[in-house]
Parts: sequence; C-alpha cells; structure tokens
Amino acid sequence: MVGRARTIGSKWVKTKVLLLNKELRKFVPETRVYNQANLLYMLKKHKMVYVKPINGTSGQGVIRVEKNDKYRYQAGQTAKSFGTFQGLFAALSKAKLNRSYLIQQGIHLLTHQKRIFDARLMVQKVTHKNWETTGYIGRVAHPRKIVTNFHNSGKPLSLEVLLGSYLKNQKKHDYIRSLRYLGYRIATHYQKSYPGFREIGIDIGIDKNLKPWVIEVNTAPDPFIFNQLKDKKMFVKVLRHARANGRFLRVKRK
Ligand SMILES: Nc1ncnc2c1ncn2[C@@H]1O[C@H](COP(=O)(O)OP(=O)(O)OP(=O)(O)O)[C@@H](O)[C@H]1O
Ligand SMILES: [Mg+2]
Repeated sequence: MVGRARTIGSKWVKTKVLLLNKELRKFVPETRVYNQANLLYMLKKHKMVYVKPINGTSGQGVIRVEKNDKYRYQAGQTAKSFGTFQGLFAALSKAKLNRSYLIQQGIHLLTHQKRIFDARLMVQKVTHKNWETTGYIGRVAHPRKIVTNFHNSGKPLSLEVLLGSYLKNQKKHDYIRSLRYLGYRIATHYQKSYPGFREIGIDIGIDKNLKPWVIEVNTAPDPFIFNQLKDKKMFVKVLRHARANGRFLRVKRK
C-alpha cells in the first residue's frame, strides 16, 4: 500500500480526524450534520454558516446561510431572504441537492478588491519520512459567488499579493511560514489515521483577525492550480514530488 494514496470523500470523516487532535481542533470551524434543529442552533450561535454536501466537490451545492434581521441564503449567484426560520428551512429543503449535508460555522474571509479569498496549501511527502508544505496559493472568488474554487470561477493568485493589504514584509513572511507549519502539522496528524497518504491539500479560510481556519482537507489535491502562478518555481516543485509520490501513474483513480 505504501505510495498509494486513497481518497476520502466524506467531509464529515475528514473533520472528525482533525478533531482527534487537541492542538488542531482549535482551527476547525464548528461542524454539525444538517437537520432543522442543528441549523437553528448554528444560525443562532454563528449568524453565518455554510451548508455543504458531505461528498461535494468544486464548491458545487455549497450554500451560505445567514441570520440578521431576516434569514437569507445564497447558492451560486442566487440569493433569497425570508421573514421566518420556517420559511428559510422549507426553501432550503427544496434548493438542496438530494444528498447528505453538513453545517459549518461560517468564516468571514479576508477580501481582495471586495472579493473573498482563501488559501490552498499543498503538503507532500518529500522523502520517505518527511512532510513539507511545498505549495501555497490564494484563491479569489468570483465577485458574486460565495465559493473560491478554481473550478467554480475562482481565480488563483499569489498569496503574498493577496495578504499584502493586511500584512507587510517580515510579518507577512512569518505569517505564511506559520500557515505552512500548520499544513505540516495537519499532514503528520493525518498520517497517523491514514498512513497511505503522501499528499494532502488544505483549504484555509483566514478571518478578519487573521486567524486561520481549516475549511477542508482534500485527499487528492490538484497540483496544477500552482501552474496558474506566473512564477513557476512552486509548480515545478509540487509536480516533481507529486510524480515521485506516484500520482499520475495509476490507471484507476477515483
Ligand atoms: N465555513 C466556511 N466559511 C467560509 N467559507 C467557506 C466555508 N466552507 C466553505 N467555504 C467556501 O466554499 C468553498 C468550497 O467549500 P469546500 O472546500 O468545503 O467544498 P468543495 O470545494 O466543494 O469540496 P472539494 O474541495 O472536495 O472539491 C471553500 O473553498 C470556501 O471558499
Ligand atoms: Mg474545497
């Protein structure tokens, strides 16, 4: 099995793996299974939540739900508001695709030219034993969307550029280094439950206090997003390790 990455589709399973670790737990947004009682509880507590298919990809079916003076949800570019929780819940039940969902505490992401952005870390095994965060990149959402995915009109950009209006010089450098270290810690923790993995991709949401939150851990991360950067150094490195780790060799892939 060594060298063979498998994939874990379930966001619920992946969240639970992170929650096993006391140090990493604080970076995980509160998460519950989707049902009426949990939605009511999560909206009351967090005011803004994300409702996501447990087995989703590319931001498809992801819904942002908010409670202010009214209840509101947005899916894709469509937003609707409701006077009551009952009205919201009935409409959501119709709008949702027919599968299982979870509810996650919403992170108020940093913005770039009024668009939200998050970060993707690529963490790879670089030797038989050692992990390293070999790639990091920012993803900026389409102006009218609530997801940043590249395959959902998001735009990959250098994280240094995106963080530039929040942090400068050494502080920015140190901050990115701390994100990379967080990626490293997540990978080595995952390794304990899943020794077969040799690379993971981590979606990090950064809130207005610059606290990083682990939005999602991807077990079959796309190396090609790094080819979107003008500077190819990171892409070359990521691809080299992806190949060494046996990506692109297998015929059967899920
Ligand atoms: N709790 C959250 N707070 C803020 N933004 C979120 C939250 N959850 C998701 N998002 C936004 O929605 C995007 C998609 O969500 P997520 O990564 O969980 O699912 P996915 O991308 O559809 O799944 P996969 O990465 O497996 O294809 C994230 O990249 C992020 O931009
Ligand atoms: Mg994702």
